[in-house]
Amino acid sequence: MQAVILVGGEGTRLRPLTSRHPKPVITLVDRPFMTYMLEWLRGHGVDDVIFSCGFEPAKIEDALGDGAALDMRLRYVREPTPRGTAGALKYVEEQIPLDGRFLMLNGDVLTDADVSGQIAQHERDGATATLGLVGVEDPSAYGLVLCHGDHAVDRFLEKPAPNQLEGVDHYLISAGIYVLERAVLDLVPAGQNVSIEREVWPRLVGQGLFGYVADGAYWMDIGTPERYLQGTFDILEGNVRTGVLEALGDDFLAVADDVQAQGRIVPPAHVGPGCTIAAGAHVGSLVVLGAGVTVGAGARVERAVVLDGATIGAGCEVTDCIVGPRARIEKGAVVRGGAVIGEDVLVGEGNVLAAGIKVFPGTELPPGAIKF
Ligand code: GDD
Ligand code: MG
Repeated sequence: MQAVILVGGEGTRLRPLTSRHPKPVITLVDRPFMTYMLEWLRGHGVDDVIFSCGFEPAKIEDALGDGAALDMRLRYVREPTPRGTAGALKYVEEQIPLDGRFLMLNGDVLTDADVSGQIAQHERDGATATLGLVGVEDPSAYGLVLCHGDHAVDRFLEKPAPNQLEGVDHYLISAGIYVLERAVLDLVPAGQNVSIEREVWPRLVGQGLFGYVADGAYWMDIGTPERYLQGTFDILEGNVRTGVLEALGDDFLAVADDVQAQGRIVPPAHVGPGCTIAAGAHVGSLVVLGAGVTVGAGARVERAVVLDGATIGAGCEVTDCIVGPRARIEKGAVVRGGAVIGEDVLVGEGNVLAAGIKVFPGTELPPGAIKF
């Protein structure tokens, strides 16, 4: 089965994590984000993937390779200018086999939805396109889908305004997981920027557009720091079925063999190779330490992601935040409240960073520069 995965967005909402790396390959727990999608799709029979890239395909290809390790074929296509979600699909038309149905996916969803069930329903319905659907409390950032009882789609409202929600009592949104027939390509003009959400789905209403409710599935668009952190916690807690669960085991704790830990590690936690945790330090719960992270004496790291090679000084408080690769948080500094510290940042002693502050790669904050 073939899948086209859209990875052409700039990932601006996840900066500074995406300042130097494309969103699909930023690290989530212990592997590039996209690896979760590939492992999940492999489990549903996908063995041939075309990545539709906007910019920097080389960085995505470097991280994911040709797919041999996953027993998949991975190909990378770069569109000359951003074509939008349908234009990007049209651009790879020639690589899609003439005879079959295929999947299309947004490249930023962490999920364990039952795609096999979605394909089976698509076949039963004789659908042209079947959208995977998940329930949310607030649909304003998504594509809202209204269906009949027989799951034919009545309306598709991308990023609905509040007045469009009147009379709707529960919200099913498009999960960015599509089963498509090749006929969908006929609705997309070539060589143009076309949005599948705004221009194709509305035209297919009543013409073979169906929704498949992914009941009981985990689903998260990891495109903001809050959701990236929540996705991390959900992987650590086993709320989503992923390959990480094996390493975490029954005690929800994965600590690499060579870790030197004198302080406490409280599960769920994932501690990578080469980490050092000094006496009196407290790591966990809900913590990821990447490879080669150092946590100083008496420091506290909780509900946080600290990526490869970062250093947390003695007595620091690092909670509810993301610390990028090789960042240095010096003695006694506090990072909390959704802060995102970019790679190679230096946070000097006595800084207090909070309230979702984003510090861009390479920045050096002198001692006491910022106190929230
Ligand atoms: N190749 C290519 N070219 N890819 C693109 C382009 C483009 O011009 N524009 C966006 N993409 C990719 C993004 O990289 C992402 O993987 C996917 O298409 C969706 O774009 P987002 O920017 O993440 O859209 P969104 O999250 O606001 O909304 C979309 O996803 C929601 C679910 O998360 C829509 O499809 C909604 O309907 C949906 O509910
Ligand atoms: Mg998105």
